[in-house]
Amino acid sequence: MSKKVLQGFILTLAISFFNHACSSNNTNTMDTTVKLTSQAYGVFEGQPITEYTLTNAHGMQVGIINYGGALTKIITQAKDSSWGDVLTGYDSLSGFTQTANPYFGALIGRYANRIAKGTYKVDGIEYHAALNNNGQSLHGGLKGFDKVVWTATPLAGDSSIQLNYESKDGEEGYPGNLKVQVVYTLTADNGIKIDYTATTDKTTVINLTNHAYFNLSAGKSLTIKDHILQINANQYTPVDALLIPTGESLDVKSTPMDFTQAKRIGDDLDKVEGGYDHNWILNKAEGLQEVANVYDPLSGRSLTVLTTEPGLQFYSGNFLDGTLMHTKNGIQYIKHGALTLETQHFPDAPNQAKFPTTLLKPGETYTHTTIYKFATK
Ligand code: BGC
Repeated sequence: MSKKVLQGFILTLAISFFNHACSSNNTNTMDTTVKLTSQAYGVFEGQPITEYTLTNAHGMQVGIINYGGALTKIITQAKDSSWGDVLTGYDSLSGFTQTANPYFGALIGRYANRIAKGTYKVDGIEYHAALNNNGQSLHGGLKGFDKVVWTATPLAGDSSIQLNYESKDGEEGYPGNLKVQVVYTLTADNGIKIDYTATTDKTTVINLTNHAYFNLSAGKSLTIKDHILQINANQYTPVDALLIPTGESLDVKSTPMDFTQAKRIGDDLDKVEGGYDHNWILNKAEGLQEVANVYDPLSGRSLTVLTTEPGLQFYSGNFLDGTLMHTKNGIQYIKHGALTLETQHFPDAPNQAKFPTTLLKPGETYTHTTIYKFATK
């Protein structure tokens, strides 16, 4: 072997060692690859509905449709290594469009939760949001953001789906043309990140959230009573018989509302009239923070909620009654069959001077980030 050939051989060997060392290092870092697929999901009011499925390197899957910007599936692994769908939902678009659909997986706006009698003032002018719940306005009115078709755009990198919707001035009784953008991202560490932004051309009220219902057993337990919940909140906002906040902030200590220490949901459920359907005042400063955790001992799955919002509506599926149609695998979603953890501003804030403001003015940008992060232990 000539000296030159030997030098070349040594160089090739060195490069190959270097590449190997780099790729070994790469195996230690998280694989951020996400695979995106899409499939036709039906037609609504003449517009095609598409389901986008994101799959990360662990195999976790999330489905999103442009009808209502709704989540359709969240498939994660249990401690026995089996995969299951922890999102309560439907097998087709007909499920989502049925009148009784209690907002499964959907984006909620322009105002999540209730506005008393739908009436509120902005700059001294009285507005009337559409009434759809015992004389109150719930989740944006008769045709909220959960019942409209969003424009969906997969983003570069295949891990995010961007949804856009423009809500017209006066729509459902809200002032201002509101441009809303929501980006769903499936992260490498099994999180579903939801980034909301919005701008308006007239002062309006805004409260956006996602209304995913979870049962971490993925169909193995009929209710969420055995799930163990912890919420970082020392106070909550009590409500009247119509579920409108009384305006008070009460301490959770020594009440069934206390989830400061992890507690089985079923333990105090019967002590709360109608079940849990309240807004907890989160112990948090500005910024994205961990606010709640729910664990299902049966499957070993846990869900951690992180948010920038000041409130969390924990709803124990009190109105589910087993009558919904087109459910996944024909499951009957019975009372307490699933729970929601809706990150939000406080209900009826437009009428409650003591609650954090929900006003959005022209020139400002509404922002909200929430992450639902899944793990198995
Ligand atoms: C509300 C419940 C309501 C449910 C479904 C929740 O966000 O707090 O009162 O029944 O949504 O409509």
